[in-house]
Amino acid sequence: MHDSFRTTAKIVGLGAYLPERVLTNRDLEAMVDTSDEWIRTRTGIRERRVVAEGEALVDLVTRAGRAALADAGVDPREVDLLILATATVEQPIPATAAIVQPALGVVNAACFDVSAACSGFTYSLNVGRQFIATGEAKTVLVIGAECLTRYLDWTDRTTCVLFGDGAGAAVLRPGAPGEGILQIRWRTDGSYADLISMPGGGCRYPPSSLASIEAGLPFIKMRGNETFKVAVRSLTEISLEVMEAAGIAAADLDLFIPHQANLRIIQAVGKRLELTDDQVFVNVDRVGNTSAASIPVAMTQARDEGRLGPGSLVLASAFGGGLTWASSLIRF
Ligand code: UT7
Repeated sequence: MHDSFRTTAKIVGLGAYLPERVLTNRDLEAMVDTSDEWIRTRTGIRERRVVAEGEALVDLVTRAGRAALADAGVDPREVDLLILATATVEQPIPATAAIVQPALGVVNAACFDVSAACSGFTYSLNVGRQFIATGEAKTVLVIGAECLTRYLDWTDRTTCVLFGDGAGAAVLRPGAPGEGILQIRWRTDGSYADLISMPGGGCRYPPSSLASIEAGLPFIKMRGNETFKVAVRSLTEISLEVMEAAGIAAADLDLFIPHQANLRIIQAVGKRLELTDDQVFVNVDRVGNTSAASIPVAMTQARDEGRLGPGSLVLASAFGGGLTWASSLIRF
């Protein structure tokens, strides 16, 4: 393994937060032309969590970050870097990572956001582990969080039934060879930028533009069917690439944690990787697609459910807007 001569980054703490409010498929039936049956059979989603009025991204980030720091037993002042993966920022300026810094007490950390949509947490793990590998950082807090429901067009049934809110976090510290993040691969293909996008709200179609609002541009849009096919292919390829680089077989994995976008994608990838159902973690039924929060929330739940513990070998693979995709092999 080519990383074995470097300091590895180990996940020493995990934490997650989901808003209390549950939005079921039945609730959606009353809001838009859809059905519980369509949503369940096409996506596997039964319910998702939605922020309450007055709640926003910083509330989710703060709770998940605090939970991970407490789990790690780390003093927030020891954190050197706070990397927040999100596509649904609190506000355009400043970075949400900077806004949450005081509440998290990570006063000595450089704080910045990473924008890589659903792959954002895995991208951020890769950034964090590089700083640990070079010795420039000893403690890194990586958070994936989304408040997607504030960016949805609730009259568009092709998107509004899919997404949910949430946050998950991990604390990284130097690890011994053979433990921690053993491999990561990441990819981008911007020629697919149109597949998942929010065209309005930036400098081309500013938030203040009435025409942009009237044209429905400041909402998440997705060409779902085309995305589906690329997702299955990319997730499979990058997962196999990481396993091959690490010299491991499917049977060696204790758990596969795929991005939770759609149960049919998860099952198709699991089959192609020749994994058993027991090896594949699924929570999309309970939380929907939480984008950058998907993998850290799933990791935390897997740990809480006893499916992941010290020594577990976990493959986590993500896919999302950009298009971006990434896979990481982690020894807990
Ligand atoms: O997290 C980032 C990565 N995202 C993904 O990986 C998502 C990938 N894509 C998907 O998960 C699926 O493509 C969707 C769940 C988004 C859609 O499922 P699909 O099987 O690809 O459906 P479709 O888009 O081909 O639509 C089939 C039909 C259409 O009706 P017609 O044209 O056949 O009459 C849609 O209008 O289903 C209709 N439809 C709905 N019907 C009831 C679309 N959304 C809904 C809905 N309720 N919510």
